[in-house]
Amino acid sequence: MTGFPPGSIEEYLNVCKNEIENFLGTLFEKEKKTPYGALAESMRYSLLAGGKRIRPVLSMAALESLGINPVPYVPLLAPLELIHTYSLIHDDLPAMDNDSLRRGKPTNHMIYGDATAILAGDGLLTHAFTLLSSPDYDKLVDFETRLKIIWELSTASGINGMVGGQQMDIASEGKALDISALEFLHRHKTGALIRVSLRIGALLGRADAPSFAALDRYGLAVGIAFQIADDLLDVEGDAVLLGKAAQKDQDRHKNTYPGLVGVERARAMAREKLEEALDAIRVFGHGAGHLRELASYIIERRN
Ligand code: IPE
Ligand code: IPE
Ligand code: MG
Ligand code: MG
Ligand code: MG
Repeated sequence: MTGFPPGSIEEYLNVCKNEIENFLGTLFEKEKKTPYGALAESMRYSLLAGGKRIRPVLSMAALESLGINPVPYVPLLAPLELIHTYSLIHDDLPAMDNDSLRRGKPTNHMIYGDATAILAGDGLLTHAFTLLSSPDYDKLVDFETRLKIIWELSTASGINGMVGGQQMDIASEGKALDISALEFLHRHKTGALIRVSLRIGALLGRADAPSFAALDRYGLAVGIAFQIADDLLDVEGDAVLLGKAAQKDQDRHKNTYPGLVGVERARAMAREKLEEALDAIRVFGHGAGHLRELASYIIERRN
């Protein structure tokens, strides 16, 4: 028993989200009173603006599938949200996607200016690794596991992961990629951080090799499905519900699944990824209930 009673996926998301929000709320609080307090305000502004917290929730569900209560591990899962939030702040900058709405609020640079927004991203990224290597968690997880997590997370976030994906996204604006190049882009840009969320859950949960491989396969499939859903929401979604601009990808000549293969085929491809993800975690039986529901939620979500 892991402390999560059965309930709807919305209830489950809320319970997990509360744990994550409570921890995130403690961060950069004392720095508000320093001479660089404006930076702390800007970091907290984006970090605490909401967001689905899907990445740490996926790690929590992975831990649960291994029969482990994920709640004590939240401080070591928060780094996923720090890096994700940094990627959004930079993604919205005028030099990148040039967006003015994020998580239902003006984007970071609209409030604090480009320079502070860049530094807020830098600060969030760096603090992810401060948390993961902090002596505060010496009793929670051994050094070797934490070093593996640091390697996994830095790899997934860097040039061979999210940052490389963002570079491909920007560099291929206005050029039509083929479907395999687009999958490669999505696997890096968005898939890597989602996939590593599962791998981190598996490492913290001391998964054996078959369980690790199953969670990894699930992560790879839902990671791509997540960005297909994001691309579909840009076409079909509503800015108020999304908390960010819609109908922008086409204007910016972005490479997206619906742009390349059409809405219907993109939806079918997301469903194929869902099936792949569900197939991967069949080995867990009932223990993977929340992972199953999260995979469906990822392709059916409205925001
Ligand atoms: C949006 O991510 C950017 C992508 C990687 C597609 P989310 O949809 O997870 O954004 P939040 O965290 O809920 O705001
Ligand atoms: C962003 O993809 C992925 C990141 C690494 C931040 P998008 O540019 O499509 O994300 P949104 O639509 O602005 O949230
Ligand atoms: Mg972008
Ligand atoms: Mg964007
Ligand atoms: Mg998008």
